[in-house]
Amino acid sequence: MPIATIEWIGGIDGKIKIIDQTLLPDELKYVFCNDLKEIYHAIKTLMVRGAPAIGIAAAMGTVLGIGKKKSKDFEEFMKDLKETTSYLASSRPTAVNLFWGLKRMEDTALKNSHKPVEEIKNILLDEAKIILEEDKEICRKIGENGQSLIKKGDSVLTHCNAGGLATGYFGTALALIFAATEKGKTVHVYADETRPLLQGSRLTAWELKNAGIDVTLICDNMAAHTMREKKVDCVIVGADRIAANGDAANKIGTYGLSIAAKAHGIPFYVAAPASTFDLSLASGKEIPIEERDPEEVTHIQGKRIAPESIKVYNPAFDVTPAENIKAIITENGIINDPTTEKVRSVILRFQE
Ligand code: MRU
Repeated sequence: MPIATIEWIGGIDGKIKIIDQTLLPDELKYVFCNDLKEIYHAIKTLMVRGAPAIGIAAAMGTVLGIGKKKSKDFEEFMKDLKETTSYLASSRPTAVNLFWGLKRMEDTALKNSHKPVEEIKNILLDEAKIILEEDKEICRKIGENGQSLIKKGDSVLTHCNAGGLATGYFGTALALIFAATEKGKTVHVYADETRPLLQGSRLTAWELKNAGIDVTLICDNMAAHTMREKKVDCVIVGADRIAANGDAANKIGTYGLSIAAKAHGIPFYVAAPASTFDLSLASGKEIPIEERDPEEVTHIQGKRIAPESIKVYNPAFDVTPAENIKAIITENGIINDPTTEKVRSVILRFQE
């Protein structure tokens, strides 16, 4: 079963322990982020990655940012906190969990404004740890809610990594597969390699293999052919931000997969926690798409594979329209054939 990708070590002057995901599968190395710059760098360079894990890292990173600050009163403390959260917010633009985690930390500070600053710092540390623990439970719940969509002997195609490495534990898309397996259903998985940064081959294939799940690696451009020639029963992916109408941003290549799945009559599922929904955006057109360094396309693991000074376009995410999504699986329940109304009723189920 998956291993813990992020944890807080020590008290208020402690540090964040993460798996450096850029080194997998060659090396399972834990690194410590001791200050704000180090966790910012870890998020930016994908040492810690995947929407829910980014949200947890942002919350813990906030504690790194304010832990050692000597603010004289709440007003000064809030100024330091806002500087910290704005800095972390500039690390990556697409996964809304990042902004969700930062806002939750700000709201917690505001709710406790009457308390001494040193006490608020400890409350914030507790809040970051709670976010991590809640995420573990949420992932479990997503797995339980969605596993019934997988039948014994099914072949599932997945893209990027939405497993334990991308969350507090257990994953989102992979949670369905882990939960189905726990129920005694044998599942086979096709893992897309996921160019340019190979999260599928480096991380998903590694996680599934470690968990004893039958996994076959394919290059991204083999997915449509695999759907036509082999038995693919469903596609399950995670998400980085889901708009109010159910349009879902996920790793680049996901949109194309949804089109191929539709063409072959294969159900396409998205698994994500409520914290990945951005109800302030009416549709996916408004989701900001991160563009990353051209070198990720011109090089593979440090080796150049394209001519010098070639023009490059490197969007890290794309948006799958709701009409291509059969269901979104959340901890609150399943949203079948998502519409704005259905999204609101499931996501706000426990808030209204
Ligand atoms: O750039 P990454 O590796 O952070 O992108 C991750 C993804 O696209 C995942 O599919 C998504 O965050 C869901 S993780 C449960």
